[in-house]
Amino acid sequence: MIESKRIVVEKSPELAAGKAAETFKSILSEAVAKRGICRLALSGGTTPRSMYHTLADHVVIDHAPWSQVEVYFGDERDVPQDDVDSNFGMAQRTLLDNAPVVWSQVYAMRADAGDIDAAAREYEETIRRNVPAGPNGIPQFDLIMLGLGGDGHVASLFPHTDSLEEAQRLVVSCHVPVLGRSRMTFTFPLINAARNILLLVTGDDKAEVVQRVFEAGDTTLPAARVAPQHGTVHVVLDTAAARLL
Ligand code: 6PG
Repeated sequence: MIESKRIVVEKSPELAAGKAAETFKSILSEAVAKRGICRLALSGGTTPRSMYHTLADHVVIDHAPWSQVEVYFGDERDVPQDDVDSNFGMAQRTLLDNAPVVWSQVYAMRADAGDIDAAAREYEETIRRNVPAGPNGIPQFDLIMLGLGGDGHVASLFPHTDSLEEAQRLVVSCHVPVLGRSRMTFTFPLINAARNILLLVTGDDKAEVVQRVFEAGDTTLPAARVAPQHGTVHVVLDTAAARLL
C-alpha cells in the first residue's frame, strides 16, 4: 500500500521543473534535519535537466545542506561518463559541478564496465553498506527521482525485460532489446523501499502513458508498479502531460 500519492499539475515545463526542484529541496532538508544526512538517487533522460539547472541556480540563495547529501543514480547507460548519453555526465554538468557536493559522497554507476553485472553487484554492495535498511530490511533512500518513458518504463525497467521481475537483487544489469543496449538499474524492491519518490513528467508525448499509469492503472506498464510500502510518491506534471487525465 502506498502511504500517499500526490499529483501536481503545473502550467508549463519550466513551472513543473521549479515545483519538482522545490519538492526535491524540501525532502533533502527534512532528511538532513531528521537524520543528519540525505541519501538520494538522481534520474537521467532529458526531462530532469531543467530541474537540475534550477537547483544549481538556487544553490547560493537556498543554503541547502549539499555537504550532507549522498548522491546515487537510479539507472545508467552503458557509456563512459564523458559520453553525451551518460546520466552521470548530464547530472554533473547541470547540477553536481554547480553545487557544493562532497565528491567522495557521489556514487556513479559504472555501466560501461567490461563486466556490467559485476559492476551492478558492486553498486548494490555500496548501497547496502551506506544506506540504512528500512522497515522491510531493504536500504531506504530518502528520495529516488524517476522519469517516465513513453512505453511506461521507469529507471531502466523496460516492458518485457527480466529486470521487472527481480525480487532479491537491488541493482541489476539488463539488456534492453528495444534499445539494443545494456543498462544498469535499480530494481522495484529498492525503488519501493524509498521514503519518497519524485516523478517528473512533462510534454504532450507523455500524455497517453500518463493517463494509462495514473488513471487507468494499467499494470502492464512498469511505472504502475511504483508503489513504495512506507513512502510517498510525488508526481509533478505539466498541463501537456496531464491533458488526458
Ligand atoms: C534514462 C532514464 C529513463 C528516463 C525516461 C524518460 O536513463 O533514460 O533514467 O528512465 O527517465 O526514459 O526520459 P526523458 O525524460 O528523456 O523523456
